Amino acid sequence: MRIPVILLGFAIDQISIKCPESQSIRPSTMLKFLLLLYIVHLVTASSIPRGTSVRFRRRKGLTKTNGVFDEDRARAEIVYTKNKHRQNLINLQRNTGSLQKGQEIKELAVLPVSLQSRILEKRQAESLTDQNETEWTGPTSIGTPVQNFIVDFDTGSSDLWVPSSSCTSSTCSYKHKYTSSASSTSAKKYGTFTIEYGDKSTVSGSVYTDTVDIIGVKAMNQYFAAVTTLSPSFEDDPADGICGLAFTKISNLHKSPFFNTAFDQGNLKGNLFGYFLNHTNSELFLGGTNTNLHQRDIEYHTLSSSSGFWQIGGAKALIGSTIANTGFQTIIDSGTTLIYGPPDEVEDFYSKVPGAAVYDSPLYGPGFYSFPCSSVPDVSFQWGNGFKWTMKKESFNLGQTQEDPSRCVGALVGQDLGLGYRVWLLGDAFMLNAYCVFNFAQNSVGFAKLA
Ligand SMILES: *[C@@H]1O[C@H](CO)[C@@H](O)[C@H](O)[C@H]1NC(C)=O
Ligand SMILES: *[C@@H]1O[C@H](CO)[C@@H](O)[C@H](O)[C@H]1NC(C)=O
Repeated sequence: MRIPVILLGFAIDQISIKCPESQSIRPSTMLKFLLLLYIVHLVTASSIPRGTSVRFRRRKGLTKTNGVFDEDRARAEIVYTKNKHRQNLINLQRNTGSLQKGQEIKELAVLPVSLQSRILEKRQAESLTDQNETEWTGPTSIGTPVQNFIVDFDTGSSDLWVPSSSCTSSTCSYKHKYTSSASSTSAKKYGTFTIEYGDKSTVSGSVYTDTVDIIGVKAMNQYFAAVTTLSPSFEDDPADGICGLAFTKISNLHKSPFFNTAFDQGNLKGNLFGYFLNHTNSELFLGGTNTNLHQRDIEYHTLSSSSGFWQIGGAKALIGSTIANTGFQTIIDSGTTLIYGPPDEVEDFYSKVPGAAVYDSPLYGPGFYSFPCSSVPDVSFQWGNGFKWTMKKESFNLGQTQEDPSRCVGALVGQDLGLGYRVWLLGDAFMLNAYCVFNFAQNSVGFAKLA
């Protein structure tokens, strides 16, 4: 008799989650619906997927093919990251009525015009050759019949958006586009979606609900945006849009993100996902972790903040076996390339790296540091008394400086993103070095050694 009880518990969960959205449903209708859901689950429980893996391509790094640090791209990445998190904080404030202590909405960061045009020229030259690196075996489809898209899976934001068929930006011409009128399950919703990325344009568009399917994992009536303007920042990104995997609190639409909708609708086995980031064969595992890709033990850390980010505290940064910084907070963000810390803490960190020096230019401003390429530091992060998660040298080293091939630039950058007191942002450069687990059920982030 255990199974029906579990399933009933499951069905009640479904109802309680649906309640706020369906206030017009009367209790008697609710009971019938509950019973119906219970029966449906008895029939379909065995078909709940065990977990589904999505292969995707890693974002381009910041090292040119000749081994030189791509400073233009790195500066563009900083502007993008600042504005992405600025928007998250704007969303958080609007959704919850306040920010948490230490959080601050900074001014919109702006990419210098000269840099903008230089990057655009480069992108246009590279965009064709880029396509080949692509490995996407897990497209996202939306609608009935399905329309296919390629999305970036971003643990540092919470909305799903793709280009709309009425997108007028030239950036959209290379992308797959959503046509709402071609989907029988599409519904237009009130409101608009807007994110400013600081390159004089915005990503904005209309809000819809439709069926979203990421290789067999379905979310019905999922809220998303079909954008009609798309900033040039996305031109060389082979992805059409973004699938945010953080919490509703930082959602611009203030709606349940794809993963949570799919889980609440009973379409995922577990309320967690595993993220394997690699130079090739990167994989997102929905509903569990892919035990072929990581060693057995997962070191979990309970989230230290309820801001809507995947944030864990009690962190240390080490250089070799020397502790450089201790007791700070970290947000794990797959949609960011680099690692960011508050400028004074990053200064402290590099003061312990032999031969390190500020690598600033008057044109760009501060943030980067260089060190001798012959002695790239062994950098590790540790949470509490956990394992020391060491970064491979090639993950920390962004390449030689343009001016001096004996000096290399580090992936840890000093920038104040407004994310809170002593909050660091750990992006792909860190995530390449561990199997990362994002666990909604336990409200935690976990790390496991790679298999
Ligand atoms: C790259 O793409 C071109 C054009 O689609 C194709 O002809 C070529 O075979 C591809 N190369 C590889 C290595 O996949
Ligand atoms: C990770 O990437 C490296 C370098 O491309 C590759 O050799 C390795 O097989 C990849 N790992 C997995 C599990 O695919």
